[in-house]
Amino acid sequence: MKINLISDTVTKPTPGMLDAMMNAKVGDDVFKEDPSVNVLEEQVAEMFGMESALFFPSGTMTNQTAIKLHTQPGDQLICDKYAHVYNYEGGGVSFNSGVSCRLVDGSRGMMTAEQVIAAINPPDFYHSPLSTLVCIENTTNKGGGACWDFEELKKIKTVCDDHHLAYHLDGARLWNALVAKQEEAQQYGKLFDTISVCLSKGLGCPVGSVLVGSKEMVTKAIRVRKVLGGGMRQAGFLAAAATYALGHHIERLSDDHRKAKEIGSLLSDVNYIKKVEPIETNIVIFEIDENYYSSEVFTTMLLQKDIHIISMGQGKLRMVTHLDYTDAMHDCLLHILPKL
Ligand SMILES: Cc1ncc(COP(=O)(O)O)c(C=O)c1O
Repeated sequence: MKINLISDTVTKPTPGMLDAMMNAKVGDDVFKEDPSVNVLEEQVAEMFGMESALFFPSGTMTNQTAIKLHTQPGDQLICDKYAHVYNYEGGGVSFNSGVSCRLVDGSRGMMTAEQVIAAINPPDFYHSPLSTLVCIENTTNKGGGACWDFEELKKIKTVCDDHHLAYHLDGARLWNALVAKQEEAQQYGKLFDTISVCLSKGLGCPVGSVLVGSKEMVTKAIRVRKVLGGGMRQAGFLAAAATYALGHHIERLSDDHRKAKEIGSLLSDVNYIKKVEPIETNIVIFEIDENYYSSEVFTTMLLQKDIHIISMGQGKLRMVTHLDYTDAMHDCLLHILPKL
């Protein structure tokens, strides 16, 4: 039995999702004539209490579009040193928007309002880049699925208002945070100028991300999406998968979280593990005690048992639980890990 824990993006559509896709009503979405995409966009905008939403093929494209909307070439955005927009979007911040990143040395991918204030360049000091945007990630990917304290997000919002900075949320895994912290999407809609949410991670869709914001922002986003080559035609097949997932796959995320915590607590007790990072959602980041094995040897030992995990660099390994990680796989993994 193959156990694939490299990411929550490895899932395949469920029979129910495939059924919804097969029965989708479609049209040409570039002409805004795809009924299933229109329904999805209205649904997500309503969930967040925001004016408008736009369907995209990927989370990278929603983030990159948001950054383009909020900045001018030469500007600087502020984000944590672990941020996906900085580390894992191929340098798109500079490629697409001509923007640099001011990295904050936060904790598990999260920074404080004081750190944000300290990272803002004085607007009248023309030698340094103009700070125009703060990007937050919730949950944090490289930070091990950590969830932000909402009060800190509110404090950062005040900082943004005081300093005329835009506020973007990379909510690729916001669904996990909403479930783990029992929060409402509307809380986030009230705080941020733009939010990107992914459908192809914990929610199990094959493709898709949605950008939410004001009508004005989304109208501008349509042009940026076009420039980036993200205008899709009969995208309703994909949107139908997303609408299905929003109805069927959010609450079950608590199951992924439970399994991740069980893996983490087991790992904490085995002798070859040096450290397990705190687990709040579906990501388990841990380090091997190199007196026992190197992380490469450990990964290879797992591979021989058809268990697939991923390295995050600097000796850190990652497992991510998801919709296709079944109870049987979980039992098997928990049985194997202590015996290695
Ligand atoms: C936090 C975060 N943001 C954005 C993305 C980008 O999503 P995509 O792979 O759909 O481009 C990812 C993907 O893993 C992510 O983890």
